Amino acid sequence: MTDPLLRATGIGKRFGGLTALADVNIDIYAGEVLALLGDNGAGKSTFVKVLAGAYAPTRGELLIEGKPVNFSSPKDAATAGIATIFQELALSENLSIAENVFLGRELKRSVLGIPFLRRREMRERVDSLIDELDAHISDPNAPVGSLSGGQRQAVAICRALNLNAKLVIMDEPTAALAVAETRKVLSLTRRLAQRGCAVVIISHNISDVFEVADRMVVFRRGRKVAERRRDATDHEEIVSLITGAHPDVRALEKTS
Ligand SMILES: Nc1ncnc2c1ncn2[C@@H]1O[C@H](COP(=O)(O)OP(=O)(O)O)[C@@H](O)[C@H]1O
Ligand SMILES: [Mg+2]
Repeated sequence: MTDPLLRATGIGKRFGGLTALADVNIDIYAGEVLALLGDNGAGKSTFVKVLAGAYAPTRGELLIEGKPVNFSSPKDAATAGIATIFQELALSENLSIAENVFLGRELKRSVLGIPFLRRREMRERVDSLIDELDAHISDPNAPVGSLSGGQRQAVAICRALNLNAKLVIMDEPTAALAVAETRKVLSLTRRLAQRGCAVVIISHNISDVFEVADRMVVFRRGRKVAERRRDATDHEEIVSLITGAHPDVRALEKTS
């Protein structure tokens, strides 16, 4: 196998007296969708927040393409090619799709020292991203406020692609979506991986996970208790890993 895009080694995170993560080792590869599973409070969101630069780990190290990185803010992680799509999407309702995709990094041209937005170029870029993702959004000038939940996810994904993200993190992207919209977001997620991105997705929906993920990691009480390839496991096993009924998890939890 090739080297991982991102390697997390021995990651621990404490909040005061509470250990949210302990000794988590995970490799993430370009071109794959990796799902994180686990009960509420298992540590999934904390782990992705460490990847996204939102939390500094208490212990452990992150390596990108073999080189240690130290994020002191989400901006640092973004600069390193990590884009995060949180459930509460950070989109501006009253701005257009194109404006949202370019938010904070608009293309500008200076005429006699006066900055002008390169609107046409931005629109064309957004059009081609929408096309590439087959995202079915007809008008990049429409305000984001007029879009459905699934279309908003698509805009957030276009934004990540426009940032040239190498790793896209999605925390419960389909939690608030209807069935048809969920299907679309899952197929967008696959397309991101086909494009060579590494994708980390958190989901409570095991059917969704089996539809979209190449590999699955199960968290329990802040620890990684299992890792499976999709083709080497099934729903039942994953559920037993999450609940702790699986013999591997029982053995692990007896010794620790
Ligand atoms: N900012 C925080 N301050 C204190 N405790 C936190 C914070 N974020 C998460 N936790 C705790 O860390 C543990 C893991 O939470 P979380 O990562 O959100 O789990 P999950 O996403 O798997 O539901 C939980 O016990 C949670 O209460
Ligand atoms: Mg969470």
